[in-house]
Amino acid sequence: MENKELVANALSKALDNELSVEDILPKIERPKDSKMGDLAFPTFILAKKFRKAPQQIAADVVEKIDQSSFDHVEAAGPYVNFFLDKSNFSEDVLSAVLDQKENYGQNEDGKGGNVTIDMSSPNIAKPISMGHLRSTVIGNSVAEILRKNGYNPIKDNHLGDWGTQFGKLITAYLMWGNEEDVKKDPINNLVKYYVKFHKIDKEQPELDDVARDWFRKLENGDEQATKLWKWFREVSLEAFGEIYDKLGITFDTYNGEAFYNDKLQDVVDSLQEKGLLSKSQGATIVDLQKYDLNPALILKSDGASLYITRDIATAIYRDQTYHPAMNLYVVGSEQTYYFKQLKAVLMEMGVPSAKNLHHIPFGLITVNGKKLSTRSGRIILLDEVLNESIAIAKKQIAEKNPDLPNKEEVAKEVGVGAIVFGDLKNEKINNIDFNLEDQLRFEGETGPYVQYARARAESILRKAGDIDFSNVDKKLNDAESWNVIKLLNDFPARVKMACDEFEPSVIAKYSLRLAKSFNKYYAHTKILDDDEQRDARLALVKSVSIVLKESLRLLGVKAPDEM
Ligand code: ARG
Repeated sequence: MENKELVANALSKALDNELSVEDILPKIERPKDSKMGDLAFPTFILAKKFRKAPQQIAADVVEKIDQSSFDHVEAAGPYVNFFLDKSNFSEDVLSAVLDQKENYGQNEDGKGGNVTIDMSSPNIAKPISMGHLRSTVIGNSVAEILRKNGYNPIKDNHLGDWGTQFGKLITAYLMWGNEEDVKKDPINNLVKYYVKFHKIDKEQPELDDVARDWFRKLENGDEQATKLWKWFREVSLEAFGEIYDKLGITFDTYNGEAFYNDKLQDVVDSLQEKGLLSKSQGATIVDLQKYDLNPALILKSDGASLYITRDIATAIYRDQTYHPAMNLYVVGSEQTYYFKQLKAVLMEMGVPSAKNLHHIPFGLITVNGKKLSTRSGRIILLDEVLNESIAIAKKQIAEKNPDLPNKEEVAKEVGVGAIVFGDLKNEKINNIDFNLEDQLRFEGETGPYVQYARARAESILRKAGDIDFSNVDKKLNDAESWNVIKLLNDFPARVKMACDEFEPSVIAKYSLRLAKSFNKYYAHTKILDDDEQRDARLALVKSVSIVLKESLRLLGVKAPDEM
């Protein structure tokens, strides 16, 4: 930003204040090709005002402008191109990074406002799917990006721990289940019962009635039903916890759907009071024609609540508890229509945070082109994927760096990092056809590539020994360092952009570019050579290490010092 201001100031003066600095700032561009300068100003926007050809305006500006703060300024067709003074620029950028360290790029745009993030939200008695992995890692990264932009994120795991499926599960368990098996391997066995139920109830539809009965009992607080439900929930949470630990991801609250059971009557009463309810074929609905949406089904004809009933209660609870600046839902794009309905109902109810409800959708995970579903049994067990990735990382370390201290820990950080980064580098809306081999490749556009670049920077710094960078002259002006420095300067803008778009891939792609340009620098430069620029080069290396580590942290990926 400082440089843009420098350019805008000089331009405004050269234009005899016909345009103010504020007018000029948003017009300044960053040319893709550095031959066109570091910053550029298009003059065709002034053609009408000055009644002159843009080329002429550009030439006149260059004639008049004070070039003393720049390397040089050039006219190129309808553009004024600014080439920044490399030495001063590098001093500014490196000083900023080294002074602020991991706080570099932090801004206070969010003014401390609460943001509730509905994320992960797996269903009890089912494995966490790759879709839930996406929600978990995207949600976690969005939370860290929000924090970096001055918000206070509240990560809420909205567990799917209520609904008619629990009637089915209880039925299935009582028919085929046994306690020993569930204790040994809870999720796998519970799923087995559930899948079996769906196979058999095709031939024995009367099983559905039994299941419905069990759910009704559960809703009415029946002792046996409640005990089984609690048990299923507990063993499921234990299994989920192992995966969250592996990912290093925590939550602020675990208020699942069941938490809202005692708040549903209030929702229905309030909808009733506001005159929003109507009957349709025995069911209770909210008409949403005004929004060009299908009606929201609030109560079934037997009075049972639905997913959306519990979500309305959840949104109201969040509104009253946190007064959130934003209420976010990191949920797959297959629920996009659903979240439109939810938002519409909350708008109709006049819930204050409804207008700041955002669904953050993401694409499907398919396996070899096929959608995953628990019912069909076509599931990838996330835990297996993570374990396999860690195993491959372990093998790589054994080959490349057998003497590495704390190998186990590093293998975990690299193996898990590969999966997390592999997800986040894609724009989140894209579908991912999951191919283990691809995600686990440790070269190219991967997490381990970025981790390795940073470990390399750390290794150079270890060799160099302790340096107090505050007294170091940080003026670098060679072409390779220039690319690195421009990227370092770009980090704060990327942090904002990632926040505006709820898009971790902005940070992931940025970290790949920075790692790449640093690797190029490393290949072309004798960093540790004993000359007068040595410490300036090390200041660059240290800055890269800081910003790469911070980028990875924003993604939820660890940065081992050695690997
Ligand atoms: N448990 C749901 C599922 O697995 C996701 C819940 C998303 N959050 C919400 N508030 N509806 O599909």
